[in-house]
Amino acid sequence: MQAILLVGGQGTRLRPLTIATPKPMLPVAGFPCTSHQIALAQRAGVDRIILGTSYRAEVFEEYFNNQSEVSVDIHYAVETEPLGTGGAIRNAAQYLTCGPDEPVLIFNGDVLTGLDIEALVSKWREANADVALYLTRVEDPRAYGLVPTDDQGRVLAFKEKPTTPEEIVTDQINAGCYVFKRSVIDRIPEGQVVSVERETFPQLLESNATVIGVVDEGYWLDLGTPLAFAKGSADLVRGIAPSPLLENRTGEAVIHETAKVHESATVVGGTYVGANVVIAENAVVESSVIYDGVFIAADARVTRSIVSSDASVGAHSSITDTVIAENASLGAHNELNSGARVFPGAEIPDSAVRFSSDR
Ligand code: GDD
Ligand code: MG
Repeated sequence: MQAILLVGGQGTRLRPLTIATPKPMLPVAGFPCTSHQIALAQRAGVDRIILGTSYRAEVFEEYFNNQSEVSVDIHYAVETEPLGTGGAIRNAAQYLTCGPDEPVLIFNGDVLTGLDIEALVSKWREANADVALYLTRVEDPRAYGLVPTDDQGRVLAFKEKPTTPEEIVTDQINAGCYVFKRSVIDRIPEGQVVSVERETFPQLLESNATVIGVVDEGYWLDLGTPLAFAKGSADLVRGIAPSPLLENRTGEAVIHETAKVHESATVVGGTYVGANVVIAENAVVESSVIYDGVFIAADARVTRSIVSSDASVGAHSSITDTVIAENASLGAHNELNSGARVFPGAEIPDSAVRFSSDR
């Protein structure tokens, strides 16, 4: 089977982490989300993968030419101007080599899941469907695509990001993974901006195409925000989120072999600690993502936060639900929480901030 991964979005809600690195390439539990997805797809028998890239396209090629965790045939369909999700799928199809009736697996690049891909493909085959959508249930569906189905699993409507209460007719949402019949992709208009959610799906339903929804109750998370990102990483480390790349590696933390963690420091809650990190005396790091080369000084506290490459957190400082971008340095005795973001290279002096935001 062949697959298309949509990885061209700007990742705006994850700024400033996505200024240099596209969202799907930010490491979650030590590997980019894209690698976790490729490994999952590979395990389900996918042997050719097309990455639909646009924003910072070069980062993908550079990484996958040099990594060792996945071994699959990867091709790059680069959009000079972003074509939207549907346009990206159409553009990537030029690298597919399968026949018109064959299934093509498609993934949003920021979805962390243990989906049973083979089961989804089987359902697609049994229903002789044009498209099968992977659905999940969430408490608040407003930020997603709503997908009501009938008792046979036939999709009745597709409503992307509903704006009025009347539009919220179900808790089933598009989980960002589809199986398309190849010929359906070839009918998406070429070389123009198309949204698969707002145009292609509603049009398919209008033309009475066979579109089915398959609800999977397994792990699912959209890595759209810093908080979700830290949670996804911690869930992977603790084995709550499955990934073929982390099998048999469950525990309270994953600590790179080159990192130096002082024996009095505490590193727990699914924290990932990257290469050459130093964590000093009595520091407490919980449910966080610590990228390569970070320094966490004595008595610092880091909770549900992301500290990007070569950044530092000063002694006695405390950060919660915070993003510190690469090369930034936070001095001693500072306190940041609730969505604070420190930009790349910023230098915050000692005792300068006691910041709380509600973003
Ligand atoms: N190549 C390319 N070109 N990729 C794109 C483009 C584009 O123009 N626009 C978005 N993408 C990629 C993003 O990189 C991301 O991986 C994926 O398409 C979805 O875009 P998001 O920006 O993350 O969308 P969303 O999270 O608001 O909503 C989507 O995902 C939800 C599930 O996580 C929709 O598909 C919803 O219906 C769905 O519920
Ligand atoms: Mg998303």
